[in-house]
Amino acid sequence: MPDTVHPSASPHPWTLDQIPYDAIQHALIVDQDDWFYALTAASFVESLSDLYADNLLIYMQGDIETSAWLREQWEPEELQHGRALRRYVETVWPTFDWQQAYDGFCADYRPYCKPELLESTRALEMMARCVVETGTSGLYGLFAQVAPEPVLRELVGHIRNDEVRHYKYFYHFFLRHQAAQPHSRLRLIRATWQRLRGIGAEDAYLAVKHAFQVRHPGQTFERADFARFQHAAGRWARSDYPYEMTVKMLLKPLQLPSLLNRLLLPLLIRRARHVVAP
Ligand SMILES: [Fe+2]
Ligand SMILES: [Fe+2]
Repeated sequence: MPDTVHPSASPHPWTLDQIPYDAIQHALIVDQDDWFYALTAASFVESLSDLYADNLLIYMQGDIETSAWLREQWEPEELQHGRALRRYVETVWPTFDWQQAYDGFCADYRPYCKPELLESTRALEMMARCVVETGTSGLYGLFAQVAPEPVLRELVGHIRNDEVRHYKYFYHFFLRHQAAQPHSRLRLIRATWQRLRGIGAEDAYLAVKHAFQVRHPGQTFERADFARFQHAAGRWARSDYPYEMTVKMLLKPLQLPSLLNRLLLPLLIRRARHVVAP
């Protein structure tokens, strides 16, 4: 993974027109509720990217290189992930009212996306973004391994590649800000840990909840329903989650001495397995 990238170096590598939605093999996926919830939840979170981008653009004002990339590459690509997943969901489950469920999700989740919740410095925020992109790279990497339907495998493969590339850019921006205003390793570890604890906590719960309520009108969504969904996702993750890649991406901004890195890697991979798929 190169440490240096240039924002103008990567045009959008794929479009929705390239995804053969009309070749979806419906019988392979239509009865799989876990996939309905996983893909719908992912489409909701991705579709809110204009809000995340607005917050980040305000925060990075004056940093021309980062702002240009966020506006011209990152935001359009994240929104495309949302549109592509939405179209897949609507093609396979055409009676589901995506827009109604998404509106409910937005109303509940927007308060969690305030600009005040960003990190205290730009270096820490860029590192926190590396953590988020590590999370999405791992998630779509997992989906690409376990997806039961070929068009879906192709789609999530494209998204996974975008997320890994996003990580590289945020890492590049992190290095620049960390060089200008260095933070101790301890501070970086603390910020990584905080962001890791926040991943998927509220957004996944609210996304699945609103998908459930629109799919089952009149039924109340309980924590136990979410726990059942998490259990299914844990089953996928047990054997197919890209643990090693994830831990390497998380450790990279810490720039640990190589011996320590080598010692920590197997321990953290074991720990990550326990956290992701207990
Ligand atoms: Fe994305
Ligand atoms: Fe991303």
